[in-house]
Amino acid sequence: MGLAAGLSLSGCGTIPIYKPTITNKVIYLDELKMAANKLNIIQHSSLAFNILLVKTDSGYTALQMQCSHQNQPLIATKTGLFCNAHGSSFNLLGKAMREPAIKPLKTYETSILNHQILIKLTKK
Ligand code: FES
Repeated sequence: MGLAAGLSLSGCGTIPIYKPTITNKVIYLDELKMAANKLNIIQHSSLAFNILLVKTDSGYTALQMQCSHQNQPLIATKTGLFCNAHGSSFNLLGKAMREPAIKPLKTYETSILNHQILIKLTKK
């Protein structure tokens, strides 16, 4: 099983950015490191868009940071995601909160195994 070797941390405002390894289309993240923050941005050269990993009461939600209006990249803040193209916004569950976007953000399936968070890169 692939481990999150090569994990690195750099700043983007106050939301940490992680650049994990990807094995067989699955991202493996150290649960302890991820749990230290409610929000983490996952970045990898093979991903067309970053992923915002949101810690929730019941686990984790992995949101693709791609606007559901016209596919522009989103900006994440502590309170939600915003699109500079036409002003749409989304809450931290991916629900569209401000038009023109109406549809929710795409999400990825997450699970926890052996103290690692797994994000499956096949979309739900
Ligand atoms: S592409 Fe994001 S609001 Fe239009």
